[in-house]
Amino acid sequence: MTRAAVLEGLGAMVPPRIVSNDEIGELVGSDDTWIRTRTGIHQRHWAEPGTVTGDLAIAAGERAMRSAGGGKVDLVILATSTPNQPMPATAPEIAHRLGLGTPWAYDLSAACTGWVYAMANAVGAISSGLIDRALVIGADIWSTRLNHDDRASAIIFGDGAGAAVLRAGDPDEPGAFQGFDLGSDGGHHDLALLAVGGSRQRSYRQPPSEQDNLLAMRGKELFSHAVERMSSSSAKLLDRIGWTVDDVDWFAGHQANSRILYAISDLLKVERERVLLHIDRVGNTSAASIPLALTHAAAAGTFGVGDRILSTAFGVGLNWGSTALTWPDIKVDGVLGD
Ligand code: UT7
Repeated sequence: MTRAAVLEGLGAMVPPRIVSNDEIGELVGSDDTWIRTRTGIHQRHWAEPGTVTGDLAIAAGERAMRSAGGGKVDLVILATSTPNQPMPATAPEIAHRLGLGTPWAYDLSAACTGWVYAMANAVGAISSGLIDRALVIGADIWSTRLNHDDRASAIIFGDGAGAAVLRAGDPDEPGAFQGFDLGSDGGHHDLALLAVGGSRQRSYRQPPSEQDNLLAMRGKELFSHAVERMSSSSAKLLDRIGWTVDDVDWFAGHQANSRILYAISDLLKVERERVLLHIDRVGNTSAASIPLALTHAAAAGTFGVGDRILSTAFGVGLNWGSTALTWPDIKVDGVLGD
């Protein structure tokens, strides 16, 4: 029988500090009504100074490992655009601090699509027989990079981490990943930029400007690309794996804006009751957004064993990716801090 990768455990966390729409509105010149109606966000969580992305990733990873019954893994991938530092990668430190021994470990940078890209890497490694078990974590801290002079982008981001354990299994068992659709379009790489930390912006004897330290994002243009790419990628994936839209029990899309999620569900003709919404509680948590939404829903008892889940993401780069799985029989604790 063909070898498949199966979801074995899930866990997520958000830092304890809640930032209300009123608080961020005060900082950037916005208000609760605008933020709720234009984005669906009611609040977000921000990490305190001194807390790094690896700390959030470890807390989520610990919960995912517990959900999977403990043990070791052969691979740790951290999907993030805000690692502890540009070099070295954060994933080996996470593996070490989680007591996972000396697995293959690396960071993967694909912005808000990072989670789906990382899952594709892990599923490919397991399906091919290269490894038997993997821990995939999506984590980002964007709160320190927000430009308070750009209220459109400053209000959407929150910090958090989500993690999953995957193991080798059979394609027919609940929890098996069914396939992927992945893509990129670097022709629009300039729609968002964080200039510091790379070779484009040399800092040696030339300190970066304050603006270069902050996220610059053209939200309105990204909005249209997000709707177009996530809906077409989802449709392609469904076609490839032989599912119809009616087969999909739950639509777990990247939580960038509730209007984006509803626009995609309308295009795909997925009823809104089947769309997972978690953005109201945490904002856009970038690479953490899908595992956070899945963990929240799983802990609330939303999924039944065997339910069919379609997941899709879009990120700056541009890049996008979709995957589908059936829901396994696993125990998932609620999102820590949520
Ligand atoms: O995570 C993956 C990558 N990122 C995304 O996918 C982000 C997708 N984009 C979005 O979610 C939305 O574009 C934003 C939430 C970022 C912005 O919402 P929008 O509806 O596209 O606003 P806009 O930038 O087109 O601005 C419309 C109006 C403008 O006022 P005027 O010129 O019409 O008078 C803005 O000044 O809304 C104003 N505005 C605000 N007003 C109050 C923009 N942001 C705010 C704000 N509070 N926070």
